Amino acid sequence: MTSNSLSQVKVSVPATTANLGPGFDCLGLALGLYNAVELRRLDSELRVTVEGEGIDLLPTNPTNLVYRAVCVLCRHVGESVPGLDVHLSNAIPLMSGLGSSSAAIVGGLVAANAMLGGPLDTETLLALAIEIEGHPDNVAPALLGGLVIVADADGAPVYRRVAVPELDIIAVVPDFQLATVEARAALPAQVPLEDAVHNLSRAALVVHGLSEVDYELLRQVMDDRLHQPYRTPLVPGLTDVFAAGRRAGAAGIALSGAGPSVVAFAPRNHETIAEAMCEAFAHHGLGARALVLKTVAEGAQIVEGDAVRAGDA
Ligand code: HSE
Repeated sequence: MTSNSLSQVKVSVPATTANLGPGFDCLGLALGLYNAVELRRLDSELRVTVEGEGIDLLPTNPTNLVYRAVCVLCRHVGESVPGLDVHLSNAIPLMSGLGSSSAAIVGGLVAANAMLGGPLDTETLLALAIEIEGHPDNVAPALLGGLVIVADADGAPVYRRVAVPELDIIAVVPDFQLATVEARAALPAQVPLEDAVHNLSRAALVVHGLSEVDYELLRQVMDDRLHQPYRTPLVPGLTDVFAAGRRAGAAGIALSGAGPSVVAFAPRNHETIAEAMCEAFAHHGLGARALVLKTVAEGAQIVEGDAVRAGDA
């Protein structure tokens, strides 16, 4: 244990919306809705408690994703996993496409890293998070904040954060959960060249549209041919929800990550747009809740931490 080790630490991690339409597996944006991960050293056992989202669903045994991330980090730095009290306070809806699993992974990694005195740098934390999650576009903004463009270069992440002014984003969350693995299984192994070009050009323009807050540009380019068409059958009413949002004044609309949530970008009338999209889900027999969330520049943050005193642990 180093002199910077902590006996307890609390980390806050933002929700994220990935893909942003055409930026499949390479664009993600951090949103102002947070999960908190608290770790406290115990003598030996593991205790996991959950409040908020996922209280009845998340495992409280060693299969818990936050704990698994803690274990990955400890293994990576050659430390044994200490006994731990893990307390999760979750505001991010589970399996909804708003980055709940990435928040768990990033929260576990950042908290464990802080607890061990910070042996790993941000690049290594990101690489470990991508390895656990399997795709980079939620974990990158969860860790780094803001709008992140991320690519894989022979197994190592290459990324840049792009400054985006504070925007209000509408997130409509229907009352059902969709596992990312199921939503990825719906995708084809190959896509037509023209669809790839369609997305390449638009992904670059979406970045420009967000950084310049150009809603007219977002209206023109936030469509996708690589994943949304294949996932539409998995989300009842999705086509109508997009159409209702546009009629109510949304500029860009996209499936949030792998879905089933939908995010909409608009200069005004957020409540009206949210209501119209919820109504469209209701026409297809699905309840939905709408959140108006701010984009946030900060990723995971250590919000509390007590240094280990001499003689502790
Ligand atoms: N890019 C990933 C996907 C995000 O669309 O499967 C999952 O949230």
